[in-house]
Amino acid sequence: MTAIADDDPATVPDEPRTAVPDVHHTAVSDVQNEERPAQRNPVDPGELDVPVIVLSHRAPVAFRDEGGRRRARRGAGGLVTALVGLAGQLHDTVWVCAASTEEDVAVAREHKGSAIYVTMTGEPKLVDPETTGALQIRLVEVDRAAHEDFYGVISNPMLWFVQHGLYDLAHSPNFGQRERDAFEHGYVSVNETFADAVSHEVEERGGRALVMLHDYHFYLVADLVRQRCPDVVLSHFVHIPWPGPDAWRILPPDMRERLLFGLLGNDVVAFHTERFARNFLLCAQELLGLSINLDKMTVQIGKRTVTARTYPISIDVDALVETAGSKAVRNRLDDLEQWLVAADARLIVRVDRTDPSKNIVRGFLAFEKLLDDHPELVGKIRFLAFLQPSRLDVPEYAEYIGQIGSVVARVNARYTRHGEAPIDLRLHEDFPTAVAAYAICDVVLVNSIADGMNLVAKEAVSVSRRDAVLALSENTGAHEELGAFAVTLYPFDIQQQADGLYEALTMPAIRRRELRQAAADIVRANDVGKWLAFQLADLTEITGLWS
Ligand code: F6P
Repeated sequence: MTAIADDDPATVPDEPRTAVPDVHHTAVSDVQNEERPAQRNPVDPGELDVPVIVLSHRAPVAFRDEGGRRRARRGAGGLVTALVGLAGQLHDTVWVCAASTEEDVAVAREHKGSAIYVTMTGEPKLVDPETTGALQIRLVEVDRAAHEDFYGVISNPMLWFVQHGLYDLAHSPNFGQRERDAFEHGYVSVNETFADAVSHEVEERGGRALVMLHDYHFYLVADLVRQRCPDVVLSHFVHIPWPGPDAWRILPPDMRERLLFGLLGNDVVAFHTERFARNFLLCAQELLGLSINLDKMTVQIGKRTVTARTYPISIDVDALVETAGSKAVRNRLDDLEQWLVAADARLIVRVDRTDPSKNIVRGFLAFEKLLDDHPELVGKIRFLAFLQPSRLDVPEYAEYIGQIGSVVARVNARYTRHGEAPIDLRLHEDFPTAVAAYAICDVVLVNSIADGMNLVAKEAVSVSRRDAVLALSENTGAHEELGAFAVTLYPFDIQQQADGLYEALTMPAIRRRELRQAAADIVRANDVGKWLAFQLADLTEITGLWS
């Protein structure tokens, strides 16, 4: 058997186990079709004749001093890709974001806090305002101590942990004066700084602009901008899960109420899934006592109506397919292929940041259980894990990397055969090799505890050449779209995940093809262009955009 050319399963069970446990998915779709207002026709961003101000914490570029030379690198992540696409199409856009590196601060100071212009094709470059296709960026310098409290105490550990259900509640959190001060002097104060910057940009455009806010860093900004610029149209996209009211009760009432009232300064609050949008409205009802309408997906606050909407973010399929065909990826693909053929092995792949929400340790425990339960697979499976270290200043993240290392060492010690360890752990970002691995793997493992969307799932099915089976946690936003075409994983159940991996590895070729093709079709039909176009359509419809 060669690993790459042969699609026959190692062992084909008579009746593949529940390949499509899809009750949840169906229920959500039904509610969506019967109750929700119909989606509007998408609006082409190029036709939108209003100024747009985008706010995100992470910038589309990061400047660094490399050996005395200023270099600009593209910011990481799907959000940057999606927003660069949007900003490139709009007529008058400015992207407000944090000056995160020392060199960013130097650039911001040289421009006296006003916008810079950057081209994003190839290596990003500072250019003149007149340059065709230049992206206008306003880098905001933030007081260092306030930023540490905002980012390192409130946004990443606290809000991220509440929203991903990561607290071990018998032991944490223990809120005290430190956290209260960090909220007041960090989160509130940095939100005020960014609200000032956004309001300034709105005022420069005559007080009328569409403001698109992003992520959990800025829940207070909309209300502050609205107070200063009453004619503005505001939307906020929450890229991470929004849990129900009980999860938010972890935070002291004054904190959670301020966050919710801040968000209710928007016209539209947007999420990746129906479940998150509903949870948001339930929070407004239960935690603030406001009146909500779950048919129209709205909440009433005084005379204003705020709408909760769902727009699953996606990838630029054509760009990824192009990357998959690039020389860099093809070279890595050849290397991987040789390695697999030599080992006569099948391949499981995961690509993640080393974030506890990704459930990496349980994923390895499930892999170990798979080998315990199926000795015939020992030596016949490789697990390639691309894990990019993340947020190591947060103690829980640093500890988590240690746990990952321990479990991998144990599994490899138990199951190394003929000098070949089953798990290949790569603790750095290597997108070309990850894309090559997507192309030739048998199974993609996404077992997150909670995930707003998870773009790895969408990337993998879009470039797989071997009809990789998606083993996908039911707690990812992606599961709402792709769960019907994946092996669903229950992220706390190690045995079920081991069984799910076995099912994925032994699925008949024809079934793999059907599932992968259906998933890829969905991703292509709802790519990142639609994510933007539908938001603009709804904002136009809901607010009229001053027409
Ligand atoms: O992945 C979810 C997300 O909220 C992105 O939208 C955002 O870019 C990122 O996390 C922020 O995290 P960090 O500051 O660590 O990049």
